[in-house]
Amino acid sequence: MDKLVVGGGVPLRGDVRISGAKNAALPLMCASLLSPDPLVLSNMPHLQDVTTMLRLLAQMGVVASLDDRAGLELCAASVKEPFAPYDLVKTMRASILVLGPLLARFGEAKVSLPGGCAIGTRPVDLHIKGLQAMGAEIHVEQGYISAKAKRLKGARILMDLVTVTGTENLMMAACLADGATVLENAAREPEVIDLANCLIAMGARISGAGTDVIKIEGVRSMFGTAHRIMPDRIETGTFLVAAAATGGQVRLIETDAGLLDAVIEKLRDAGANINARRGEIQISMKGKLRSVNIRTAPYPAFPTDMQAQFMALNAVADGTAIVVETIFENRFMHALEMQRLGAEIEITGNTAVVRGVSRLQGAMVMATDLRASASLVVAGLVADGETTVDRIYHLDRGYECIEEKLSQLGAHIRRAH
Ligand code: UD1
Repeated sequence: MDKLVVGGGVPLRGDVRISGAKNAALPLMCASLLSPDPLVLSNMPHLQDVTTMLRLLAQMGVVASLDDRAGLELCAASVKEPFAPYDLVKTMRASILVLGPLLARFGEAKVSLPGGCAIGTRPVDLHIKGLQAMGAEIHVEQGYISAKAKRLKGARILMDLVTVTGTENLMMAACLADGATVLENAAREPEVIDLANCLIAMGARISGAGTDVIKIEGVRSMFGTAHRIMPDRIETGTFLVAAAATGGQVRLIETDAGLLDAVIEKLRDAGANINARRGEIQISMKGKLRSVNIRTAPYPAFPTDMQAQFMALNAVADGTAIVVETIFENRFMHALEMQRLGAEIEITGNTAVVRGVSRLQGAMVMATDLRASASLVVAGLVADGETTVDRIYHLDRGYECIEEKLSQLGAHIRRAH
């Protein structure tokens, strides 16, 4: 199993290019199922999750090819079998995003339940309830969701929790439904807007994406388009935290500061100097790092996907920080690993109290999920000596060439087998 060996103590310096967003790419790939014409996606990140989604779509009969501008072309002219098997869904929960489009276009779908994952139970009941409200007949048996509907019907759907992929699944399903659908308490994440923009270019009639009420007027059929995937705001945030925690000076290019206001505000509170211009962000850290309190919540509040990285920053900052995780019930696994590096973290329920220490000491640690892995790399960058992060297959799911990008910024980091 691959490991990353990180030598700590080097302030990051230089330029880094931010990749296309994983959490936008995955739903956009599923949107190809809504039309018989090709969908061309550019700024596609090279990630394990993208490969998994490609395998899943290819298995259904979607034809994938690279076009001359290195865009990924997906063509779902026909689909052999609207089926998502357990062995693929279990490795990537976002596979559930095929359910809505398959049902809407082909009238049936069979998708494995995702099952448990390292950061909590994460059910998909709201996806199922929403589709039922649109007239789908759904049975859950032997670990599979089997759904049927001659043609989905528009409905008013109030989701009692804000769910990102739930909103995306129902929005895609509603595109081909008969009549209007209103999604209330919808997720406002920028990735939902990116998906809505692409769907609109494919002929969908959607308004309100980016607000908590999204209205979709169903259409009979959709067509192909070309779409550029938005920058990854979590990768952006991770590099910003790494720059701040190491006392560095970094310019991030091909990204957008407007996607991560809450994160940037916290970094300024921590003492970072941040300037944003069109398409780029500059960060420099002079003086002492101050600890910052964090409370995760749906967008535009502080993202749960940045909680772990800020815990690494707080571990070496001046003062004591309170970190409250409100989205997932079991998302502090990284804290136990950081304790192995000498971090002082106390956890009670969904709250962590982090007392900053002056130094962390390199050690062997183990990645438990995607963002936890990133936080351990950040901790390794600030720890004395060498930190080995094991099980980094999690990291490869969501960060493109992380060790190359960090090396370019001067970090001592290498992959070992
Ligand atoms: C998405 C992101 C993930 C991010 C998360 C929260 C993608 C591919 N993944 O995941 O990186 O961490 O948003 O910002 O975009 N819930 C239910 N029932 C449901 C659906 C969700 O109870 O049917 C709960 C979940 O258990 C969780 C909360 O709602 O506690 C939010 O989850 P959700 O927004 O659905 O997360 P994902 O869309 O899976």
